[in-house]
Amino acid sequence: MLGKYRWKPKERGKKKTCFWEKCLNFDLACICVVAFLLVSGMGKGEAVWQAFVSAIHVQEGTQRDTSHSQSTLSLQGGESQEAVGLPKNGDSQGTGQTSEGNTEKKKVAITFDDGPHPQYTPEMLAALKERNVKATFFLLGEEVEKYPEIVKQIQEEGHLIGNHSYKHEQLSKLTMDQACAQVTRTNELIYGITGIYPSYLRPPFGDWHKELDCKMNMVEVLWDVDTLDWSIQNHAKIVEKTLNDVQENDIILMHDGYETSVTAAMEIIDTLQKQGYEFVTVDEMIFD
Ligand code: NI
Repeated sequence: MLGKYRWKPKERGKKKTCFWEKCLNFDLACICVVAFLLVSGMGKGEAVWQAFVSAIHVQEGTQRDTSHSQSTLSLQGGESQEAVGLPKNGDSQGTGQTSEGNTEKKKVAITFDDGPHPQYTPEMLAALKERNVKATFFLLGEEVEKYPEIVKQIQEEGHLIGNHSYKHEQLSKLTMDQACAQVTRTNELIYGITGIYPSYLRPPFGDWHKELDCKMNMVEVLWDVDTLDWSIQNHAKIVEKTLNDVQENDIILMHDGYETSVTAAMEIIDTLQKQGYEFVTVDEMIFD
């Protein structure tokens, strides 16, 4: 069912457009304007010229932030922009619809690595249940062996279980056979408890063994927001950092091995739910 698919952190920066792409955009805009005029029967000189000018205006407005040319051209082009149905100047600010909450909820996925932990994983599970939130747990084989009943509980409560290798070693530093063994041994252990082979793999340190690609039919899942909860171990700081960084469709990385991670995760969840976010497991995030 699953092909090779890697969920990598999204690029945050501005999208770069090359010269030819800009040319193509410009040409397409012109063709659209001309086609519209032909269809709507506006063939007269003045109207064509104004629509053409406004098309140039829109192009310049999106490609360059030259306030001078914008203000000059908008004096001429303002009316006909509306006539030909092109976006108006203010439209970029008023995206409106999703933030009104009328449409689909914004999604976010919370993930917990390195467990199961004998104390904090059950605490996390109880708190998630209270909030009706489904999360994804990337488990370590050697911890799975120690706490199989917690693995069973994670599954029974509707969370997704992924593989985080057996011993948390850096896969790229191992031979291919050793790296494979880290993954397959953990898959077998999880299967032995849940009856399901994990389909999702989060390599320790986000470090993939490149030759695993042809060996494993698993989906590699990294993250978008690193809470650094294991290192910070301070409730307020973890919450602040995460809420500053998080955006729609992000995958949040946490660890269910610390008290502060449990309390911080709950405040993060409560806050994001109030902001209209819905928590989903990573499979829903990736394939929906
Ligand atoms: Ni880890």
